[in-house]
Amino acid sequence: MLRDTSGVTPTAAARTLRILHLEDSDADHALAMAHLRRAGLNVQAYRVETARAFENAIHEPWDAVISDYNLPGYSGLDALAVLRASGRELPFILVSGEIGEDTAVEAMRNGASDYLLKNKLARLAPALERAIEASESRRARQAADAELARSRERLSELAQHLQTSVELERAAIAREIHDDVGGSLTALKFDLAWIERRSDDPEVQQRVRSALETVTHAIEASQRIMHNLRPAILEQGLVAALQWMASRFERRTGIATRFHTSHDTMMQLPAGVPLVAYRTAQEALTNISKHAGATKASVDLSLASGVLSLEVSDNGRGLSPEDLAKARSFGIRGLHERAGTVGGWVELSSGAAGTILILSIPLSGAAREPERAPSSEGDLHDPSQWGTL
Ligand SMILES: Nc1ncnc2c1ncn2[C@@H]1O[C@H](COP(=O)(O)OP(=O)(O)OP(=O)(O)O)[C@@H](O)[C@H]1O
Ligand SMILES: [Mg+2]
Repeated sequence: MLRDTSGVTPTAAARTLRILHLEDSDADHALAMAHLRRAGLNVQAYRVETARAFENAIHEPWDAVISDYNLPGYSGLDALAVLRASGRELPFILVSGEIGEDTAVEAMRNGASDYLLKNKLARLAPALERAIEASESRRARQAADAELARSRERLSELAQHLQTSVELERAAIAREIHDDVGGSLTALKFDLAWIERRSDDPEVQQRVRSALETVTHAIEASQRIMHNLRPAILEQGLVAALQWMASRFERRTGIATRFHTSHDTMMQLPAGVPLVAYRTAQEALTNISKHAGATKASVDLSLASGVLSLEVSDNGRGLSPEDLAKARSFGIRGLHERAGTVGGWVELSSGAAGTILILSIPLSGAAREPERAPSSEGDLHDPSQWGTL
């Protein structure tokens, strides 16, 4: 097997390296380049001697900078500072006749890739190659991080768009059920009632009554489906809707559920906000009934400093970061995206005393005419009963 003993990897050796060399001695420049070529590097170098020439040249597409430390009226550290100020991420190697430990440490602290003595120039090629590779992998990592951030952003935009489309689609289906199915079932119910009244045949009457029961059941089912698709109760205001939700939840689950709001008059909320708050409370309460093992729950709606806050808490077992990372759980993830559609966010905190989920939505613009909403259940919410919740 052939072994490459030059210490230079094919990546650096295979291409032409563009080097900016800050060096006032012709002989030292020639010597450094000879060392690089002897090590198998394909180098195209440009030598500058003065601070000015260096500053002018720094914006060219170099692969690395090699700089002498001692220059007339200028130092390698000054050149390093100029490079950093230019914002360019170039490998910088400091070469010096004599360099003290303090200077070397300062150079490395200021971002130099490496430093070496002029009588150890055999180290120059491997040092250069290492510095270029480190810089390239740093750049690749930055590009990958930026791409990841962009793709996360796109994913979040898509998820928010889907949440909005799902709500629009639900509203359209609810309308169709209301107009087509609901309308037909109601007409059918009237017709059956008419037949029942007109017929003397007990057998027909019995059949019609049974059919009426079936139709009534179908009407109730379609209303329930419509409500799940688009909560009509929201038309009476968010406060009324949450109050209704909390008491229905308590009846259905047996979990003592309190609703509290500091405002019995709700501000007029921007479009979309009530539905986001409603769906958030719905998912939070569903989670409480499914996972918390709680005996108490609380829903709190407040408006302070232009921020609408909805807090849903329970006295259950609490949740862990692993719970939130479950691959097949989408409820809370969906809430984050849903909140994003109206410029809000969701926070969760949990401990031995239970779980609190808070939705915050800054309401841009001044509050408009207050909308009268049904009052809350007085002082039902007593924070002292909830300990750390
Ligand atoms: N109030 C809570 N108390 C205890 N654990 C909870 C609570 N809310 C959520 N969790 C935990 O967090 C996990 C994630 O909740 P999330 O709502 O995202 O998903 P899910 O309810 O499991 O499924 P779905 O996608 O149907 O909502 C739950 O599986 C549960 O373990
Ligand atoms: Mg859930």
